[in-house]
Amino acid sequence: MADGTELKFTRNDFKRVREMIYQRVGISLSDSKTHMAYARLAKRVRSRGLRSFSDYLDMLQHSEESEEWQGFINALTTNLTSFFRETHHFDILSEHARKHRKPGETFRVWSSASSTGEEPYSIAMTLLEQWREPGGGSFQLLASDIDTNVLQQAALGVYGRERAEKVSDALLRRYFDRGVGSNEGKIRLKQQVRDAVSFFQFNLVAQNWPDIGSFDVIFCRNVMIYFDKPTQTEILGKMAACLKPDGLLLLGHSENIVHLTDAFVGCGRTSYKLAHPNDEERGG
Ligand SMILES: C[S@@+](CC[C@H](N)C(=O)[O-])C[C@H]1O[C@@H](n2cnc3c(N)ncnc32)[C@H](O)[C@@H]1O
Repeated sequence: MADGTELKFTRNDFKRVREMIYQRVGISLSDSKTHMAYARLAKRVRSRGLRSFSDYLDMLQHSEESEEWQGFINALTTNLTSFFRETHHFDILSEHARKHRKPGETFRVWSSASSTGEEPYSIAMTLLEQWREPGGGSFQLLASDIDTNVLQQAALGVYGRERAEKVSDALLRRYFDRGVGSNEGKIRLKQQVRDAVSFFQFNLVAQNWPDIGSFDVIFCRNVMIYFDKPTQTEILGKMAACLKPDGLLLLGHSENIVHLTDAFVGCGRTSYKLAHPNDEERGG
């Protein structure tokens, strides 16, 4: 058992896992995820020295404040990401910043499911490049995720060299340090880039969102796919309230929100802006 032999994982255990993760963070697990849930959680059951999944799930349910809840959540999130993933959004970001940055004002961006940091650091490099041009103003970049493991990794800003294949040579030279000695094969974002991102834990399905101000651009990419439609609609309503009037919401390639809300209208590939009352008359 503690030695890695199979643990019993019943249909009812999976049902409980599904309800518990849905309640906490909105992730909807389909039946096809049964094996994935087993594989990821069995390690946690064993590491707690427990004899069965039901003991583990009982332990969580009997202690709402248990630290193990975070381990349970971290185990069930999917964190796939890369630098400059869905590259077109970084061109859109750069152009939006060019048009909307203003002397004396702060251009604000939020990466709302930032995973291990590749997305917010790609945003940071894009903005730093834009700020090499005259235009004034400053920028602020927030990055959040529910998973505390990925937030820790992100804050370090260290990656295998192969992770940066979509980063141009010019950006690699300007914004990364190469590891030497025991760090051979690794790269690290320079202090300037790490300092440009403020990471924090944030649950997108939290009932009440803290006041984090208004943004020029919100990245909410490849996370909505884990939520059911009512949850997506609720998050979109809250995102709409966090955007400046000309702000942009950028979603992942398979996330279509057209039938979920009338708060947004499309304005380019998986890019959305706030719907304004007279959009329809204007054919928006
Ligand atoms: C597949 S990654 C997407 C990363 C990045 N946005 C991208 O497109 O490359 C999805 C991320 O969403 C996070 N996530 C899942 N549920 C969440 C929630 N309720 N609140 C905030 N983040 C969540 C996961 O921890 C994971 O890091």
